[in-house]
Amino acid sequence: MSRPYPTSLGETQPLVPPIYQSSVYTIPDLDALDAIMNDGEPGFIYARDAHPNARRLAQLLAEAENAEWGVITGSGMAAISAIILATLQKGQRILASNRLYGRTVQLFTQELDRFGVATEYVDCNDLAAVEATLKKSPRLLFVETMSNPLLRVVDIAALAELAHDHGALLVVDNTFATPVLTRPMDLGADFVMESLTKIIAGHSDVTLGFLAANDPDMLPAINAAVSIWGLASNPFDCWLAERGLATLELRLRAACENALELANWLGEQTGVKRIWYPGRDDHPDHQLATKVLDRGFGHMLCFELEGGRDAVNRFMRAAPGIPFSPSLGHSATTLSHPATTSHRYTSPAERKRQGITDGLIRLSVGVEPLEQIQAEMAAGLK
Ligand SMILES: Cc1ncc(COP(=O)(O)O)c(C=O)c1O
Repeated sequence: MSRPYPTSLGETQPLVPPIYQSSVYTIPDLDALDAIMNDGEPGFIYARDAHPNARRLAQLLAEAENAEWGVITGSGMAAISAIILATLQKGQRILASNRLYGRTVQLFTQELDRFGVATEYVDCNDLAAVEATLKKSPRLLFVETMSNPLLRVVDIAALAELAHDHGALLVVDNTFATPVLTRPMDLGADFVMESLTKIIAGHSDVTLGFLAANDPDMLPAINAAVSIWGLASNPFDCWLAERGLATLELRLRAACENALELANWLGEQTGVKRIWYPGRDDHPDHQLATKVLDRGFGHMLCFELEGGRDAVNRFMRAAPGIPFSPSLGHSATTLSHPATTSHRYTSPAERKRQGITDGLIRLSVGVEPLEQIQAEMAAGLK
């Protein structure tokens, strides 16, 4: 026989929220079921539709993003998928930045094309080009606050205005910035989304996504997409992400300081051809970054080694303390190689256009003492 839950805690409450590791809930009777499903009474039924750990995490993140509501999904890609499924019809169009995470481009081009949704790409740092392309009336304009991997920053407020003038919704992937560095909703975005897998959860043990908006009419369509297409999260990951979120600001601040120092230090090292960090005045979007980002220029930086792929291999072997680990946002410094990981399926010509060369290393800077990272980097560069 199933025992009723919870065991009485008397007047006490756990300080740390419990993990509601249950895929389904018990409901007293049919009237109670109807009250939950039809009248919005509190309660849960089936975890793919909603569960307490996701609900709580979504509220915390929506507050952080200054959004009216938020929804947790099983990954960052699931969050993008949910927005697409909830907002687009066959025959509608997406206008997207021509500098995006490789899988996002695959989703738009390879997958959505099959469902009759066409995507066009534009340089979102060229506002005149954006305006010209918006004349084709896309439903969505999709950008990353700071692009993966070269950290190109976009003017969210200007893009929001242009999108709205042409009846499009602006969707901002804020994964690299997080609400600590910028809040796209305050700048006019219609949707903000993040891969929580990265620095928000922050310990490389979670795969989750988040999306938020202000328009209450969008929420039922998003909830339906998450439930029907099976994009939901699991309770334990949400619980871990909530714990990560508690230290996000501290971790990001420390990582931003390390990243700026490292970027400048790298500029003095031999064998380094080019550095991409928005906090340096040689980054093409440095001025814009000072306007769009608060409290730091981010924990990500890229540098290009002379000697291409062979030099990258030598660096990796000589600096095992900075693991080659194709994600980002871990508490310790890790590196990735965009040409063979995040942009592996991007054509060589397109990689060339973006500046994603075979010698490019993407560094996710952690919170270790700076000297420790520098020592390992120095070993790699030698
Ligand atoms: C900018 C950006 N958006 C979205 C995603 C997808 O997130 P996830 O891996 O959680 O699906 C990633 C993953 O690397 C990313 O870098």
